[in-house]
Amino acid sequence: MTTTSGKEIILGVTGSIAAYKACEVASLLVKRGVRVTPVLTCSAQKLVGPASFEGITGNQAVTDMFDSGQNQEIEHIAAATRADLFLVAPATANVLAKAAQGLADDWLSTTLLATRAPILFAPAMNTNMYGHPATQANIATLSDRGCHFVGPDSGTLACKTVGAGRMSEPACIVERSMRLLENSDDLKGRHVLLTSGGNHEPIDPVRYIGNSSSGKMGFAVAEEALRRGAKVTVISGPAEVAPPVGCKVIPVQTAQEMCDAALLIAPGADVVIGVAAVADYRVEHPMTEKHKRNGNDLTLTLTQNPDILAAVGAQKKNGQITVGFAAETGDLVENAQAKLSKKNLNLVVANQVGVSDSGFGSDTVRAIFVDASGAVEELSLQSKGDLAHSLFDRITAILA
Ligand code: C5P
Repeated sequence: MTTTSGKEIILGVTGSIAAYKACEVASLLVKRGVRVTPVLTCSAQKLVGPASFEGITGNQAVTDMFDSGQNQEIEHIAAATRADLFLVAPATANVLAKAAQGLADDWLSTTLLATRAPILFAPAMNTNMYGHPATQANIATLSDRGCHFVGPDSGTLACKTVGAGRMSEPACIVERSMRLLENSDDLKGRHVLLTSGGNHEPIDPVRYIGNSSSGKMGFAVAEEALRRGAKVTVISGPAEVAPPVGCKVIPVQTAQEMCDAALLIAPGADVVIGVAAVADYRVEHPMTEKHKRNGNDLTLTLTQNPDILAAVGAQKKNGQITVGFAAETGDLVENAQAKLSKKNLNLVVANQVGVSDSGFGSDTVRAIFVDASGAVEELSLQSKGDLAHSLFDRITAILA
């Protein structure tokens, strides 16, 4: 029996084309031993029928606040009160707006007000609707109130536009739900500072030296810290994915900008984690005009960038925890041990790069924890979210 089996989730389904994927969400939740009460808005029912959800969950789907004879209003307000998590997947711009305003004109919006359970939204909508300042303001309001968000992903949407707005994959929504059900706030009152993403080091005004960091690992770490109740600041270099809602993001391009921001903020942080793939070198004298091809080879002189974590480690205050990531193609443990002392770290997460299922851009990772006491723990191949989860289990143990 896992810690999440026997828990109850209200699954709110709203009228996005992604509503059909909510059946898979329900099915995966049931397989995890969770009791699911499906709630469908009127528009959701135009896209997918309640019978599917009833078949999958074994529970009556709530479709109408005033269904006669079912006394649903009272029973399901009770369910919303009992629920361990309120998941809305897909969440349209409309339901986000209603929840942000506290409107209660149907069962779903009414019980979103009545519940005291954590709320997780999986937004799904057209890119322009998602990017609209009204939607973004509603998401910010809900996030400030402690609601959680998973996604949306980017890609080709049902309306044929390309951009952010596609609902996260069901497996990903279920993973997030499981972590929320575990319900820990062991980082409440703590400030976690991360560097994340890569760097762009300019060659001239239009070209740069960069690397393939996607930002996925850093944002997974940020998300886990948020879930555990921390205040989270992310100094983010260029990344392919959006940061989780709820953290403070300081966007930077170069390693020097990242270092300046880190040294400024680190003294107020309880935990500093260097997830960024920092550019070790920069062009010594970037050109001020665009360089034109002129028939000659071009030689660039590169100069070293500061080691951000080593600089943070050098000014580390009592009780502060510093963690490094070490992306390596070989000798993971030896390299990690060298970094522990060189950068004055409590823990190094050594991860394998250069293989298809681990490293830059992949959703999974092979990692080894190496800590200052000399302990080495090799983890199995897992999602970046799961690695972030294990990482904070170790960090909270050190903090305690
Ligand atoms: O020395 P190496 O680059 O392998 O160390 C990796 C760790 O150090 C990562 O946590 C990375 O974020 C951090 N780092 C840094 N500043 C650098 C290089 C790496 O903070 N210039």
